[in-house]
Amino acid sequence: MIIAIDGPSGAGKSTVSKAVARKLGFSCLDTGAMYRSIAWFALREGVELSDAASLGVIARAKEISFGLTPGDPLPSKVYIDGIDVTRDIRTARIDKAVSAVAAHPSVREALVMQQQRIGANGNYVVEGRDIGTAVFPHAEVKVFLTASDEQRALRRLRQNKRRGIGSTDYEEVLSDIKARDRFDSSRAASPLKPAEDAVLLDSSTLSIDEVVGSICDLAQE
Ligand code: CDP
Repeated sequence: MIIAIDGPSGAGKSTVSKAVARKLGFSCLDTGAMYRSIAWFALREGVELSDAASLGVIARAKEISFGLTPGDPLPSKVYIDGIDVTRDIRTARIDKAVSAVAAHPSVREALVMQQQRIGANGNYVVEGRDIGTAVFPHAEVKVFLTASDEQRALRRLRQNKRRGIGSTDYEEVLSDIKARDRFDSSRAASPLKPAEDAVLLDSSTLSIDEVVGSICDLAQE
């Protein structure tokens, strides 16, 4: 079974996906981490963010994998080409670069194939922007999770402070997520939008527990 959770930055997708996966005994896949890893690799190699051909080569050739930390059954580590990038993909620099990388069809095609291969292996909660529309259009459960811009910025700010990585300036975080939403929603390839059959949930009016409960109910219907 696939549970697809799409939505803009900071809507609570990661927290909700992990909680749903734990409750149902599923694994989970953070597709945003894959786009972030390609952006990280491209910046390290000095590849221009507009260079679709070179970015496509990286996305096709470099293996992205997920690893466990002891005591947690859900993956929390991210590797590209064997390098642990778990922390480095969460910097403000990557926040600013990732949407441009993710807009290239050459990158999306390669990563969507990897995501479909991973998801074919069992029960997954898959979070991203295009999971219900493009990656798993036949997912059994599709959720589009939103929240107000201000709530999303506050949530991301708290997360950055907790992790000790990424911007801790509210205005910078707010303008980054707004810019990324605009970019992600207006790109030609698989723009961010709810699937026609997605259930819309707003985490500004529902608690995380309520959102998790609703998704588990949908999965068990
Ligand atoms: O953590 P946050 O919600 O801010 O973003 P993310 O899920 O890590 O995704 C980072 C970026 O990757 C997004 O802003 C999109 O540009 C891109 N992305 C995408 O295009 N398609 C996906 N399935 C997942 C992420």
